[in-house]
Amino acid sequence: MQQVYINQLSDYAGEEVTLRGWLYNMRSSGKLLFPQLRDGTGVVQCVVFKKGVSEELWDSLKNLGQESALSVHGTVRPDERAPGGFELDVNGAQVFQAVEGFPITPKEHGTEFLMDHRHLWLRSRRQHAILKVRHTVVNAVRDFLNHDGFTLCDAPVLTPAACEGTTTLFEVDYFDDEKAYLTQSGQLYNEATAAALGKVYCFGPTFRAERSKTRRHLTEFWMVEPEMSFATLDDVMDLCERFLSHIAARVLDERGEELKVLERDRSKLESVVPPFPRLPYDEAVKILQEGHERGELENRFEWGGDFGAPDEAYISSRYDRPLMVHRYPAAVKAFYMARDPERSDLALGVDVLAPEGYGEVIGGGERATSLEYLEEQLTAHELPREAFEWYLDLRRYGSVPHAGFGMGIERCVAWMCGIEHVRETIPFPRMLYRIRP
Ligand code: 4AD
Ligand code: MG
Repeated sequence: MQQVYINQLSDYAGEEVTLRGWLYNMRSSGKLLFPQLRDGTGVVQCVVFKKGVSEELWDSLKNLGQESALSVHGTVRPDERAPGGFELDVNGAQVFQAVEGFPITPKEHGTEFLMDHRHLWLRSRRQHAILKVRHTVVNAVRDFLNHDGFTLCDAPVLTPAACEGTTTLFEVDYFDDEKAYLTQSGQLYNEATAAALGKVYCFGPTFRAERSKTRRHLTEFWMVEPEMSFATLDDVMDLCERFLSHIAARVLDERGEELKVLERDRSKLESVVPPFPRLPYDEAVKILQEGHERGELENRFEWGGDFGAPDEAYISSRYDRPLMVHRYPAAVKAFYMARDPERSDLALGVDVLAPEGYGEVIGGGERATSLEYLEEQLTAHELPREAFEWYLDLRRYGSVPHAGFGMGIERCVAWMCGIEHVRETIPFPRMLYRIRP
């Protein structure tokens, strides 16, 4: 008998197959049992007639609890009313483990309870859908960059210095009293590999010891970072536009079923197409100040600050697609950012704000090329010179305009799925007060 997966049932209409999985739900009515089986590829309703199976089997099935593990065999029957279009008429089964008291039942549970049982919560239909979307986002990212001439060059996780400010470093004991830090970004290493290979990207876990307890902060998250030699801020914005529209299109194309489970409004993703609006920081500040005058924003935003989540949501609510805010005050941005030659108080950086209030999903820009300027910046930011000596070499030997960005995968997935919090977009989230399970 054919051993198949639930998502292959359409190839076996009328045939006998065996499925292996876990009991998702069970209904019964007298002489009938309706076990719903899930196997990681889908959920199918099975039908067991008391008269169609041995008494022994009937008895072993009828009291099975949620998440019991079993294999069933029977005939695949097309049924228009069934969710996947098929049901299985069961004529035999084998129970691997009968389970009682699975902690997560179809009733409502609190978030803390679910987070404590994350290892089991992952089996629910919603979590399944979110992780499938994540899988597609990651593949779309890799495919896009690979086809666009980028070479994967992964950056180290253990690093001797900060990239994105010294306040969010996780410190690790290295050998012989040396300290190392978990990486905040692979960018500085990307700048080295970009000078070797032209267009590169790194894609791995990054860490920020941020004491932020918000719906978009994790302490461990996955970041994809492309970097291009001979490129400017405008090139980065062009790349962001093509990159994000490719991802949205792939999710729409491959994850229709999952978007349904998540009740995602597809039209919100269909509008993610170029061109994306490009708004200078100065203009964004004006919009925020006018919003305050109209009484739509509580606090007056002053030029020079970094946007908070409500500011980002307010500005981007005017658009149906991602908004690229560029040329921020250099004072609020990282040490490596290039200055605008026309306005030396501005950095050639861009933040891409996703629509629907999702806020910043991408941060990037053009890098400073001058050795002297970077030496000054290291001093101004109180960064240890010796740990950056290798980085300064990149400005000594063949320094050229170059630019890139970083996108947090979890923020992108939360936006694609239309869900509230990034904690559901990674199998085992790490957050301010959570390192278990
Ligand atoms: O804006 P960030 O800090 O930029 C950098 O790290 C640059 N060095 C990237 C580069 O140019 N190569 O972070 C980039 C993105 C953010 O836009 C956000 O999507 C994500 O990383 N991110 C986080 N995601 C989840 N939790 C956090 N604590 C995050 N911090 C940043
Ligand atoms: Mg940023």
